[in-house]
Amino acid sequence: MNILKKTTLIGGILALSLGFAATAQDTLTIATETGTQEIMLKVKPPAWSPLPELISGLVFRSKETQSLQADDFGNPGMVFVEQAWESWNTTDGSAGKSCADCHGEPAKMAGVRAVMPKFNKDKGEMWTLEMYINNCRTDRMGADAWKWNSGSMVSMTGLISLQSRGMPMNVAIDGDAAPYWEQGKEMYYSSTGQLELSCANCHEDNYDNYIRADHLSQGQINGFPAYRLKNAKLNSIHNRFKGCIRDTRAETYKEGSPEFIALEVYVASRGNGLSVEGPSVRN
Ligand code: HEC
Ligand code: HEC
Repeated sequence: MNILKKTTLIGGILALSLGFAATAQDTLTIATETGTQEIMLKVKPPAWSPLPELISGLVFRSKETQSLQADDFGNPGMVFVEQAWESWNTTDGSAGKSCADCHGEPAKMAGVRAVMPKFNKDKGEMWTLEMYINNCRTDRMGADAWKWNSGSMVSMTGLISLQSRGMPMNVAIDGDAAPYWEQGKEMYYSSTGQLELSCANCHEDNYDNYIRADHLSQGQINGFPAYRLKNAKLNSIHNRFKGCIRDTRAETYKEGSPEFIALEVYVASRGNGLSVEGPSVRN
């Protein structure tokens, strides 16, 4: 921690207008509807981590993008969260239930995003947040499953993530999770595509460097779902994985595939300790 820690972004504006470098602050103070909320942008890594420090992807974005995320009224992802709130309260499916009927307020979901993906003991499988949501829709509501990248699904992951905002990511990697974590790790370090690049080549060896116009981050997923200025909507984790793999000119996997679920376990755990940030703003 350095002296600049004190100069957190009050509403995103103060420190920015003083002209600190994008990487200077360790925390971000977000102006919320009811006050302010602080999130950690830089934290100590878990003991096993190859990274000297964990850094939120926001640190590598422009000051303009950072200031959007520093104010819930300016964060364009919040429109989608509001839509999800409506859907949370809306009856759907043959059982005539809404999410709210069983779960109460969305705030009851506090802590859920921080531990996802999480092994589902009943089903004997690793499940992501999307899978838990869809299981409630199909098995408990008698409603159709939402597609992985559909607006309804990604917005709902945004609403649920927001309830954990500021909490440290804390994904289990031992016990039942261990084989998934190993598989994800293997993928993370494997070169793919015509460019023969692994995730690690860009996000471990070269973060803070530029690749074309892009300032490379550590490829963390604590900020997901992420509102991207590029496509003006909230984007899922697996959609981002797909984009990165495509950029290496490799064949990619599908959203919800066993490969991406394992990769998500590993990548999520690389951010254990970073604040849940979703819905974040990225370019
Ligand atoms: C008929 C009751 C019912 C309805 C309706 C329902 N759920 Fe659930 N949900 C449950 C139960 C029971 C569980 C498992 C126990 C628990 O973790 O609360 C669960 C678990 C979850 C979990 C995993 C929580 C965790 O900690 O692992 C999520 C996420 C979730 N529900 C989201 C939703 C969403 C979003 C909706 C609406 C689209 C919804 N649920 C509708 C009953 C319901
Ligand atoms: C050729 C370099 C390259 C490779 C290889 C690559 N990425 Fe990326 N990735 C990028 C760039 C560029 C961005 C956008 C800027 C940034 O956040 O780093 C990005 C962004 C991301 C983000 C969003 C981070 C955030 O905070 O919004 C995630 C997550 C991610 N990558 C994961 C992966 C994973 C997992 C792999 C391996 C399957 C991978 N990337 C492979 C270049 C790469």
